[in-house]
Order: sequence, then C-alpha cells, then structure tokens
Amino acid sequence: MHHRRHQASPARTDAPAHAHHAGHPSLHRLFRRAHAPRQTDGLTLHQAAFYDVLARVVLLGDERRLRTSTVALAGLRPGEQVLEVGCGTGSLAITAAETAGVKVYGTDASPEMIERARRKAARAGVDVTFREGLVEQIAFPDASLDVVLSSFMVHHLPDDLKRRAFAEIHRVLKPGGRVVVVDFEPPQGRLLRTAMTLLVGRGMMRIDNRYLPDLLRAAGFTTIRTGRTDHPLASYASGQKAA
Ligand SMILES: C[S@@+](CC[C@H](N)C(=O)[O-])C[C@H]1O[C@@H](n2cnc3c(N)ncnc32)[C@H](O)[C@@H]1O
Repeated sequence: MHHRRHQASPARTDAPAHAHHAGHPSLHRLFRRAHAPRQTDGLTLHQAAFYDVLARVVLLGDERRLRTSTVALAGLRPGEQVLEVGCGTGSLAITAAETAGVKVYGTDASPEMIERARRKAARAGVDVTFREGLVEQIAFPDASLDVVLSSFMVHHLPDDLKRRAFAEIHRVLKPGGRVVVVDFEPPQGRLLRTAMTLLVGRGMMRIDNRYLPDLLRAAGFTTIRTGRTDHPLASYASGQKAA
C-alpha cells in the first residue's frame, strides 16, 4: 500500500485550546473552524477506495463484526461525544454513529480518506462530522469529549508520536472519559508475518500492540483493560481518565 509523509492543506482559524464548551453546537463549531495541522511523521494513507478493499481482505471478510464489537467495547451512552482519531475511510465512526443519541466526529491526516468517509456516511444516512486532523494535535478543547476511539492507527505512528498522541487523547477527554484502542496482534509465524508485510507494506511501523497498556499508563489513564476482540487478528486496550 502506498503511504507517504503528509503535507496537509493550509491552516484555518485556530481553535482556542482551552476554550470552554457548552453543549454540542459550540463544540461542533470549534471543531469545524479549528486549525488544520500541516504535517505528521505518521504514515498517512491516500488510496482510500483501495483501503476499503484491503481492509476486507486483511480482516478476513469479517469487518462488520469487528466494527460492531469495537463500538460495544466503548459502551456508548446517549448524549456522549465521540471522536475517532485516524478514522481512515470512516467505517468505525459510521458504525459508532448508529448508536442512538451519540455525536460522532472523525479525523484523519489524509484528505482522501476523509473525503471517502464523508461519502460513505452520506450513503449510510448517518451524521458523522469528518475532517482532516492529526492525532498529535487534536482540534478539540481540553476535557470536551466522552470517548476517543482509535482503530488500527497506532501502528502508523513512530514511538515518540505514539506518546504525544496518547497525551493529546487524555487532554481532550472529560474526567471519567474513556479511550478504546484496537490494533493488530503481532503476527504469529513466518507465513502470517510475510502475508501481513505484503498486505500492509514494509514501511509500516512496528505491529505489536503489547506496548499499548504502558502508553496508556504513561499518558495518565487508569482502569486499563486489555483483551482479544472477537477477531483473531486484533486485540484491544482501553483506559479511563480519572474522574
Ligand atoms: C490503517 S488506517 C485505519 C483507519 C481506520 N481507523 C480503520 O479502522 O479502518 C490508519 C489511518 O491513520 C491515518 N494516520 C496516520 N498518521 C496519522 C496522524 N498523525 N494523525 C491522524 N491520522 C493519521 C492514516 O492516514 C490512515 O487513514
């Protein structure tokens, strides 16, 4: 798969990093007007249509079940504000938005992925606000979100960026807010390792989600849980910001 260091489109108005938010409309406005960051050392994907085909192949045709179970891990409740960072073509964010009464946002470093995510949400008839944005510079005020989701994104970040990403996720969550991270299990056996390398590309960062609990702890999260998803290739780690 083709990926490259990303140079994003020109910045717009800066969102006040510590702005107070009073309910959905002002948060929504802030998010839409926020500064669009310029560049990341994360591996950004640009072949959006191909990505969806690849996801189906890599996830062994079982994508829908994995998306649904990832959303279930977050235990979304009506009235909650949810962000997926590195949302790609939006499959998980769109599934999350099927939960009654939640407001879902999705950001990705890649304009092509965001464009496709918007089209998919429109086709599915669900309300998700997608826009370009970097996980290391999230365009939301402090303590403004209930849940942050990250799915198959962390392995796209070099180690220092992983730490910055989790510090940002912690910053934007409300006290008591939750983060759910799903990523690949380290491929077992030479055959699977070779297949994964061929499919996701040699340039991909370390695929080893065993570092997730330490990253969550270092960012200040508590109540850290880990486990397998009901998909053989993926597991999860979740955490909570102290109330
Ligand atoms: C493997 S895809 C996962 C997409 C989606 N979350 C899913 O579950 O299908 C990883 C995504 O992370 C994005 N990405 C890479 N670096 C990023 C960064 N620094 N900030 C936000 N997104 C980033 C890529 O552009 C890509 O769309």
